[in-house]
Amino acid sequence: MRRPMVAGNWKMHGTRASVAELINGLNQQALPAGVDVAVFPSCLHIAQVVDGLVGKVVAVGAQDCATEAHQGALTGEVAASQLVDARCSMVLIGHSERRSLLAEGDEVVTRKFAAAQSAGLMPVLCVGETLAEREAGQTLDVVAAQLAAVTESLGVDVFADAVIAYEPVWAIGTGLTASPEQAQEVHAAIRAQLAAKNAVLAGKVRILYGGSVKAASAAELFGMPDIDGGLVGGASLNADEFGAICRAAGS
Ligand code: PGA
Repeated sequence: MRRPMVAGNWKMHGTRASVAELINGLNQQALPAGVDVAVFPSCLHIAQVVDGLVGKVVAVGAQDCATEAHQGALTGEVAASQLVDARCSMVLIGHSERRSLLAEGDEVVTRKFAAAQSAGLMPVLCVGETLAEREAGQTLDVVAAQLAAVTESLGVDVFADAVIAYEPVWAIGTGLTASPEQAQEVHAAIRAQLAAKNAVLAGKVRILYGGSVKAASAAELFGMPDIDGGLVGGASLNADEFGAICRAAGS
């Protein structure tokens, strides 16, 4: 069986003081042993979080990395190898906010995915359709193309050491959650696409749902056969709420 994962994407939130409070809250949570828990603070707060979560088995990841795996002349960017040095183990790749607001296309996303893995980080590839695409009936095509961009260039086997997050853009930060059935349909399609190339791997890869996940909606979503946990934005900034979501994944 696939081990569930709950990941908290803190986005561009936090000050040293508020991050200290959040760490304190997380340290008080009873986290289920059978769930992989990860948090993705801003780069500025990675060291604070790694140092602060001592005694908790919580992975720390970054929200993005450079297209280059190693250090070099690339002002403002952070190399995947620097994130490893900062004790990150994971990185979000291709979050929809970066795809849409920062014009990150599939080619850049693929290069970042490869850079992350070559430095030893586990990428979490984010895919998802906009509302207009869903209303036009293009959801499965859009998601398939985002996934194919990576598999066609890097091969399917890279997903042996990666996670996928399906995040419908219209559900992110809007309070609108995809229904468990809507999400399951896309998760099953993602798994089938991988299975066509490597069925064993497809059975093992974790596909997280993201988009306004709350403690109240988590259990039903995570109960679907192809939903292996969640990528949680807003609700991950509240330690009690995030802890409850993690526990929902463990039950
Ligand atoms: P949300 O964000 O939970 O606030 O909708 C999810 C995400 O963007 O990863």
